Amino acid sequence: MNTQAHISVLKTEALEALAVQPNEWYIDATFGRGGHTRAILEQGGNVMAFDCDATAIAFGEEHFAAEISAGQLILVHQNFDRLETEWNNRQTASALLKPAGIFFDFGVSSPQIDTPERGFSFLHDGPLDMRMDERLGVQAKDLLAVLPEKQLAEIFWLYAGEEQSRRLAKAIKNAQAKRPFTTTTGLADFIAKIKPRTGHLHPATKVFQALRIAVNSEMQSIESALPQALQVVRSGGRIVTISFHEGEDRIAKHLFQDWEKSGQGQQLTKKAVMPGEDEQQQNNRSRSAKLRIFEKTQTQ
Ligand SMILES: C[S@@+](CC[C@H](N)C(=O)[O-])C[C@H]1O[C@@H](n2cnc3c(N)ncnc32)[C@H](O)[C@@H]1O
Repeated sequence: MNTQAHISVLKTEALEALAVQPNEWYIDATFGRGGHTRAILEQGGNVMAFDCDATAIAFGEEHFAAEISAGQLILVHQNFDRLETEWNNRQTASALLKPAGIFFDFGVSSPQIDTPERGFSFLHDGPLDMRMDERLGVQAKDLLAVLPEKQLAEIFWLYAGEEQSRRLAKAIKNAQAKRPFTTTTGLADFIAKIKPRTGHLHPATKVFQALRIAVNSEMQSIESALPQALQVVRSGGRIVTISFHEGEDRIAKHLFQDWEKSGQGQQLTKKAVMPGEDEQQQNNRSRSAKLRIFEKTQTQ
């Protein structure tokens, strides 16, 4: 298993959406393995890239050393909900202008999912962790321990649309009281025993997705970061989002609509852009991807 590989989704479309210009600055809020950052750099753009995962930043420091020392790439080991502060703090003398584009590729990377010790996937046995940022205090196993049944059910329903949210939350809390869940397969096997498999999804898929989103406060970070992106991007600049989850896409869609109504710019994608047949066939993960573009009003 190659735990470093990540196939960037909608790369050509994202580059076109950002309309990259040489020597301009761009923010890649979700560096991952740097696929989109690399593409921006190749077009002559400069990048400030965020990732809250230390392994992503370490990968970037190793594989983008030349660009970092040339001052074309700044890596920031932070949550993107600190986008405005970090941009303001780290502007270099040559980059006093605002960024021409800000890009978000939400969610987890393949290396995170494929590394058993990170605990994102029930396909491998590992600790029930799921933190993208290992500086965070709360792991998935802690949520199962501390959240009351009702709140757990809400998370399963809200973040993953789990139809049996209440039943599963009740069963998990009852079992947890006798023997706490600590491993990915321990939880997945328990869910598989009480929830019959329907269709191609493993019965634990939605619970795992919901726990991951809750552990990393993913929706809250997006809600906080997108308005900051609108502040930070220069006039006429673009904000581009790729989401893999309906909840993430809804936040971007509604904010872009509200900003358009209040005259702060326009949506360049009334309907989200989706990957073509070829990309969907080559990369299964791309199937649920939706790309949206907002362009900030040009002021004189
Ligand atoms: C889908 S991957 C990005 C892949 C990247 N575009 C590429 O081509 O390699 C998402 C990355 O964003 C990071 N991430 C997710 N939420 C974040 C947040 N709130 N703040 C900072 N990084 C985040 C994850 O750790 C992960 O590395």
